[in-house]
Amino acid sequence: MTARVIFIGGGKGGTGKTTTGQNLASALLAKGLKILGVDGDGQASWSHLNGLFPRKGRPNIFTAVKQLIENFEAKLAIYHLPSGLDFIPSSAALHKIVSDLASVERSEYLLQQLLAPVLERYDIIIIDCPPALHAWTNNIFMAANDGIITVQLEPLGIASAGETLEYLQTLRKRGLFQAHDLKITGGLITMMDVRTSIHRNLAEVAEEKLGMHINFFRTRIERTIQFPESQYFGMPIDLYNKDSKGTTAYQALAEEVVSGTSLSSVSRLNVPAGFADSLLLDASSIEEQVGEDGTEITWEEVNVII
Ligand SMILES: Nc1ncnc2c1ncn2[C@@H]1O[C@H](COP(=O)(O)OP(=O)(O)OP(=O)(O)O)[C@@H](O)[C@H]1O
Ligand SMILES: [Mg+2]
Repeated sequence: MTARVIFIGGGKGGTGKTTTGQNLASALLAKGLKILGVDGDGQASWSHLNGLFPRKGRPNIFTAVKQLIENFEAKLAIYHLPSGLDFIPSSAALHKIVSDLASVERSEYLLQQLLAPVLERYDIIIIDCPPALHAWTNNIFMAANDGIITVQLEPLGIASAGETLEYLQTLRKRGLFQAHDLKITGGLITMMDVRTSIHRNLAEVAEEKLGMHINFFRTRIERTIQFPESQYFGMPIDLYNKDSKGTTAYQALAEEVVSGTSLSSVSRLNVPAGFADSLLLDASSIEEQVGEDGTEITWEEVNVII
């Protein structure tokens, strides 16, 4: 077997990436699959949720990348959790990885190289992305076969999903995916409050406008206090409450992910320039600021001397 590597990403913060990583991993484990979780975020949120607090001397994804940069070899620490999940934690040091990567040739391939020796051990490897698009997330994209883009039903959440697609398209134009056919598993609507018309409207906008370029999961993750509650108790939602609608939702998502029917290839992505901006206009009543006579709004520049 060779693991399928899936990133959970999107440029914006707080869109349910880590919650999706945690609960999708648990739902896949419950299906009897061998799963490795990788915390790719310096905030170390998923590590914390697993009780793996970053401590001095505790090896993590940053220490492994650093070793690979410095010595061309590394020890990749895989922690075996009581839940059956194998896990590579993160630490705050990962926040400064971008500057470390700047001086490295072919720096996009480090994570791919680190994971290569363990691919045959797992069915699926899930990587939780930071809320960013930069040289480290490029590493995650290069290590992945496909990825889930979490879409929060707010104007900026929808625009940010569009920005992620624009970014992936730019990477493709730079030649990054020439030998690597990265796919988008699907857009995943998260934290939806189905009782509100604003969320129902925005879900339609997201699925119509983003859905012209990527597929969307049929499963939508609804907002429920059971997610923060389960995290309070240090559990994925299916272990906290097997009857919760959150449990059912992530089980359904796991089915869709495994069936893999909705993959769209980044090589065929064709989003227009300014896509994220146009999504923001579609998803809100925000108007771009122009002067009264239709000219650009004015600004002044203040001299700053240090
Ligand atoms: N479906 C949901 N219903 C209610 N609360 C949720 C849901 N999904 C996530 N949350 C809560 O929203 C917050 C943000 O979620 P999460 O940490 O998963 O986002 P993130 O995209 O990983 O954030 P970051 O970009 O900072 O890494 C958390 O407190 C989480 O408990
Ligand atoms: Mg997170």
